[in-house]
Amino acid sequence: MSETTDFAAAIRTIPDYPKPGIMFRDITTLLASPEAFRAAVDAMVAPYTDDGVALVAGIEARGFILGGAMSHQLSAGFVPIRKKGKLPLETIRVAYSLEYGVDEMEVHRDAVVPGSRVLLTDDLIATGGTAEAAVKLLRELGAEIVGACFVIDLPELGGRRRLEEMGVSVKTLVT
Ligand code: PRP
Ligand code: ADE
Repeated sequence: MSETTDFAAAIRTIPDYPKPGIMFRDITTLLASPEAFRAAVDAMVAPYTDDGVALVAGIEARGFILGGAMSHQLSAGFVPIRKKGKLPLETIRVAYSLEYGVDEMEVHRDAVVPGSRVLLTDDLIATGGTAEAAVKLLRELGAEIVGACFVIDLPELGGRRRLEEMGVSVKTLVT
C-alpha cells in the first residue's frame, strides 16, 4: 500500500447534487485512478487481514465496487445489500433514511450462515442511516459484524457515532 496516497485529493465535490444544499462527494475519480483505487482497497482491508473475515457485505451501489475488490483481497465471499426489489429469492427488508432521502434495502434470507464474521463496507458514511440499516439486516441473519469501513466519513452528520453506539467499530480513510 502507498502510504502517501492523498485520498482526499482523489475525490471531487459536486455542490447541490442530488438536492440543493448537498455537497456530493464523488469517488468516481478515485476509482478511475489505478494508484488511488488500489491504495484505497489495500488500506481498507489492512486492519482486517487477520480477523477471519468470511464475508464482505457491500451496500448498493458504490459499496459493491469497493466490497468486491476487498473480498478478493481478503479471500472472503461477498454479500450484496440491495435497494428493494432487486434480489430474486426470499429477503428480509428494512426502511431507512439517509442524508438526502428515504429508501428500503434488503438482503437474501440465506445470505449469511449464522455466526459468520462479516465486514461491512460502503464508500461513505453520512447520517449513518444506510449503514445502520445494513447492520440490522446482517445481525438479523446472525452475522457477527467484525467492523464497518468506508472511504469517507462526514463526521458532522453523526454516522460514525451512530454505528459505534450499536457496538460496531468504524474505520474510514478520509474525514
Ligand atoms: C450513499 C452512499 C451511502 C449512503 C450514505 O448512497 O453510497 O450508501 O448514501 O448516507 P447516510 O450515511 O446518510 O445513510 P445512495 O443511497 O446515494 O446510493 P447509491 O450508492 O446507489 O448512489
Ligand atoms: N451519501 C450521503 N451523503 C452523501 C454525500 N454528501 N456525498 C455522496 N454520497 C452521499
